Amino acid sequence: MEVDRRLFLATLGVGALELMSPEDKAEALEHYMEEKLDTEIAARDGAEPVLYMPDGEAIALAELQQENPRPPRGTGSLFMPRAREFAPMSDKPTLVEFFEKRFAPANHVLQSATHALETGQPERTIMACLMHDVVLNLIKVDHGWWGAQLIEPYVDERVSWGIRYHAPLRFYPDESVGYEYPEMYNRIFGEDYVPEPYIKQAYEHAKGHAYYMEARLITVNDTYAFEEGKRVSLDQFVDIIGRNFKQPPEGIGYDNSPSAHMWRTIAYPNRPL
Ligand SMILES: [Fe+2]
Ligand SMILES: [Fe+2]
Repeated sequence: MEVDRRLFLATLGVGALELMSPEDKAEALEHYMEEKLDTEIAARDGAEPVLYMPDGEAIALAELQQENPRPPRGTGSLFMPRAREFAPMSDKPTLVEFFEKRFAPANHVLQSATHALETGQPERTIMACLMHDVVLNLIKVDHGWWGAQLIEPYVDERVSWGIRYHAPLRFYPDESVGYEYPEMYNRIFGEDYVPEPYIKQAYEHAKGHAYYMEARLITVNDTYAFEEGKRVSLDQFVDIIGRNFKQPPEGIGYDNSPSAHMWRTIAYPNRPL
């Protein structure tokens, strides 16, 4: 995917760039690329990106975004100013339902999981790729950590561990698996871009950990997941989700897990209390 530096910086707003840390910029870039991917794929298919309304009607994203085209900085698309309510969730929401009603179209994570699937990687890696960026819909800041906590009660610990550390590992190459420092970061932010100390510390920790590859493979699959020509579907992952995500019988968000509140926030991000 080609990213126009000028257009990207324009989305951040006047003066915002000087206030942002390198990590903020990287998060913003990642989110920008994901949104651009969804928009371009929808345009290619002759359709506008849509969100589903409570009555099942599909409304063009552009229509909902007319007044203020972006959510507040640091927050995800769920906090985008909206003209209509979200489609209600069922009484016992499943992960598939969250994908359909809150994360869709989710092209980026679906593409990365598809790459993992097509290259014969383990199911838990496919699962990790599928979930690695979904929390960006909620919040962009430190998305590896938020994303890991979101799913920790429901998955193999290697899946959530990998998601936590894929965020810091993005900034560090690993030739053994062909992961290079993203050229995009050089072009957008310049070559003097240095991750903050806590990112470096997290990387050092991950590098010496037995689960290192769990996170590293997410960063590898990540680089194959901004393809405008690729068609993806959640269907081929439904069984993998069934085997790798412990769906609570009460429904996600109503199961009293340590992250249930995060899922409720995703389900109903506009509730005032
Ligand atoms: Fe990510
Ligand atoms: Fe990603």
